[in-house]
Amino acid sequence: MNKMTVRDVEVAGKRVLVRVDFNVPLDPATSAITDDSRIRASLPTVKYLLEHNAKVILLSHLGRPKGKVVDGMRLAPISRRLAEILGKKVNTTPDCIGPEAEKAVAALKPGDVLMLENLRFHPEEEKGDEGFARALACLGDVYVNDAFGTSHRAHASMYGITRYLPSVAGFLLEKEIDTLGGLLESPERPFVALFGGAKVSDKVAVLKNIMDKVDLLLIGGGMAATFLKAKSFGVGMSQVEAEAISTASELMQAAEKNNSRLLLPLDVMVADEIDISVLGKIVTIDKVPSDMIIVDIGPATIELFSQELKKARTVFWNGPMGVEEIPQFAGGTHELVKLLPQLQARTIVGGGSTAEVITALGLEDKVTFVSTGGGASLEFLGGKDLPGVVALRDKI
Ligand code: 3PG
Repeated sequence: MNKMTVRDVEVAGKRVLVRVDFNVPLDPATSAITDDSRIRASLPTVKYLLEHNAKVILLSHLGRPKGKVVDGMRLAPISRRLAEILGKKVNTTPDCIGPEAEKAVAALKPGDVLMLENLRFHPEEEKGDEGFARALACLGDVYVNDAFGTSHRAHASMYGITRYLPSVAGFLLEKEIDTLGGLLESPERPFVALFGGAKVSDKVAVLKNIMDKVDLLLIGGGMAATFLKAKSFGVGMSQVEAEAISTASELMQAAEKNNSRLLLPLDVMVADEIDISVLGKIVTIDKVPSDMIIVDIGPATIELFSQELKKARTVFWNGPMGVEEIPQFAGGTHELVKLLPQLQARTIVGGGSTAEVITALGLEDKVTFVSTGGGASLEFLGGKDLPGVVALRDKI
């Protein structure tokens, strides 16, 4: 990465504002954190700053409170979890700017950690408001972006703030950019990318950008229905993005032109409806009943994809192969995920729901890298500049 990092700035005794992405999934009933990977992923930066006697002030959003205070989206549970992991007190403030935040910051000593309240309680955060960015900047001497997952947003705490403070990358941001960037620049071959998830439209940019870099694309999940439709297969009642059918055809033609292979499912599991009480049945892709929905890839496809993955030296995976939330439709996803640690390959997993599957199966330490970015990793791999990264100081 050609950006300065925390290693390149003096932090001892300084008030260091660290933008983290602690937007972690919470249990809707109990508000308990169901996956704390994003908190753990920023620990190297937080620990480094503490070891170097900085006063650490964490900035984050949680959820989408739409510019209002929402009690269920306060950061207190997150700061409690961080305190448990760090074995250290983490104070919070009732607001991320204003007199109480200023007082809490003024009371910090080197080696202390403070977490400011949810940035998105202020509508100015998402608008990238300059006044709000300045009010945040007043609380620090140095700014560190360790929120890879939010770096595609030109929000006040991601972009505006960098106009007022020396701004550098944290270790998580550096690792994400180096790992995902390396995937595009110098993957060991064969490079196989596996894409699933509901929509083709979410992945068009990344599919187009990665097309001439991979040796093989494997397509499963809900989005496979649009590709199958583009090849004139009947997909029953499966959701097809009508406007994406021509895109899917173009992508298949582009793959042919680039000499990269693109494989679709050979067989699928179909069900009458997407419901926990419904069982599926396996059919080949030319036999999908007109009144049924594709809910997973079938065993022949799992076998085909597994054989291809076993030949790979680099694997990138984003998106489930079926309706992964329903156990009887999760087989394809789980079989392939469980194969990742056994491969003789660098295995890189995109963020969002894909990362949550890896964590739920306890495999996060058995793959090469799990990105903490959902939308951010797709935008980055789609070839877009991320505003939160662009704004940081270049390495000299
Ligand atoms: C994410 O979870 O992808 C990031 O935290 C960004 O959240 P957002 O999509 O609400 O901006």
